[in-house]
Amino acid sequence: MKSIENAYRRYASIYDLLFGAVFQPGRRTIVERMNCKPGQRILEVGVGTGLSLPLYPKDVQLYGIDISSEMLARAQARKVRSRLGNVMQLSVMDAEHMEFEDSSFDKVVAMHVASVVADPERLVNEMRRVCKPDGQIIFVNHFHSRNPLLGRFENMLAPLSGQLGFRPDFSLDRFMDQTGLDATEIGRVNLFRFCTVLEARNNKLFEPEAMAQAGAMS
Ligand SMILES: C[S@@+](CC[C@H](N)C(=O)[O-])C[C@H]1O[C@@H](n2cnc3c(N)ncnc32)[C@H](O)[C@@H]1O
Repeated sequence: MKSIENAYRRYASIYDLLFGAVFQPGRRTIVERMNCKPGQRILEVGVGTGLSLPLYPKDVQLYGIDISSEMLARAQARKVRSRLGNVMQLSVMDAEHMEFEDSSFDKVVAMHVASVVADPERLVNEMRRVCKPDGQIIFVNHFHSRNPLLGRFENMLAPLSGQLGFRPDFSLDRFMDQTGLDATEIGRVNLFRFCTVLEARNNKLFEPEAMAQAGAMS
């Protein structure tokens, strides 16, 4: 966890330059795809410098959390600069242990976060917990490339994950297996279709609930 915080402390001042414009088409596509309705509560986990915040309709309520106070300070500055009155809360918070109540949000989004967090399974469980039943859960991420050359390059970079602040060899199959996420791949976005968009409906029972139900039936 400390290494992630350190990495994003280092990135904060240059993050928008490195990952702003290049990933912005994907952020835009996702927000359009979310089809947000007036008054809906949207949570962005790992909101970073808040590059996506101006893309949302002005009549939704946006909440953003991030583990890095340096990244979040930039999101806060963006909120003020761009007069984003629909941003209700930006908080330093661990997406693997959120302080929100169960079923607090209509939609929960993680843009370029799945390959960054220490424990993707815990991230997904928490996203499910705070999302309303039948709410929408969305991920966009670059997963380990199936192109042999690029894949090999990413494998070579893998030992540097701590310094890079993400895992270049993070595979989609492993993510789906680890999390049991019932997600549909709904498209590829950004230059060279570099990133994958995944969407899930929050309609699966959480494990403790499922076990309690199984116990009640036996
Ligand atoms: C690659 S950046 C993505 C930022 C933003 N979503 C975007 O699209 O540019 C990953 C972000 O996830 C944050 N992060 C990593 N682990 C986290 C955790 N456990 N809880 C909350 N945020 C986390 C990092 O601090 C960083 O700001």
